[in-house]
Amino acid sequence: MLSDRVGRPFLKMRYVVDDECNYNCLFCHFEGQQRRQGSTLTAEDYEFASYVFSKLGVYDFKLTGGEPLLRRDIDKIVEAIARVAAVSITTNGLLLRRWVDRLYKAGLRKINVSIHTADPEKYSKVVGAPTWAFKEVLRGLQESRNRGLAIKLNAVVLRGINTDDKSVKELVKLAASLDASLQFIELMPSGSGLKVFGDYYEPIETIAEIVTRLGGRPLSLRKELHNRPLYKLGGVTIELIKNYNNPTFCSGCTTMRLTSDGKLKTCIYAEPAVDLAPYIKNRDVEGMVYAVKTALASREPRFHIYASK
Ligand code: 5AD
Repeated sequence: MLSDRVGRPFLKMRYVVDDECNYNCLFCHFEGQQRRQGSTLTAEDYEFASYVFSKLGVYDFKLTGGEPLLRRDIDKIVEAIARVAAVSITTNGLLLRRWVDRLYKAGLRKINVSIHTADPEKYSKVVGAPTWAFKEVLRGLQESRNRGLAIKLNAVVLRGINTDDKSVKELVKLAASLDASLQFIELMPSGSGLKVFGDYYEPIETIAEIVTRLGGRPLSLRKELHNRPLYKLGGVTIELIKNYNNPTFCSGCTTMRLTSDGKLKTCIYAEPAVDLAPYIKNRDVEGMVYAVKTALASREPRFHIYASK
């Protein structure tokens, strides 16, 4: 296992497999604004990279984008990574129905689906997609559940959209119907999120209050995950992620990111630290390990950028 300069272990990897998206969410952080330059990594490249990362102690791989299901070889990528470690996908769910069977066969067992509200009209407004999109995502979720995938719903906390009792209750009900867990994510002031921050930011504590008022029971803290509070409500596990003005968001972070062209980012907010593409493309284990260690040696917590309040 490798650690960075402040002692945080490197355990999780997030692959940003593409930059394209079929949504236009009003708060999108664009995974920290990457600008792709080099050629895109292939499924074989991901297999090699994941093999090396897993040898270094990484046990959790997540695919994200853009929208990862827009990649035509997403099943091949899943299959390649699943050969060496656990893999999950974070998706908006619009293309889920058409992919779920192939993804399951490729070895996928877990998905995160972003669904910020159970109200189709509000949903449409938030994600910048036509109203039929909501129904399509629901169908994809249902299909995923029937196929046996573990589902986590992601809801970004948006003032006036999902910060009242009724909205939270409806999301919990939706999660319960899918045997899913539900994760509320505080809005991050990054990308478009920065532009809409004044209009939509609501502290995660508001959701904690609502969940408690609705009868939610607090569960023990999961210390390894930035001290995320956990609740149980209506049979659903609810996870609250506070990332604004929260030093432990950084101090508990064990994740690094790889852009679609192979650049390693030590933090969602950081510029790429090192280009791994040459090593990945040449299947150069030693070169890649050395480059990852170099990046870790400079890996800094970023919470000071929040320290505006
Ligand atoms: N703040 C918080 N979460 C965000 N996401 C996208 N942009 C932001 C932001 N500015 C969410 C997506 C998805 C997850 C990967 O991050 O909706 O659920």
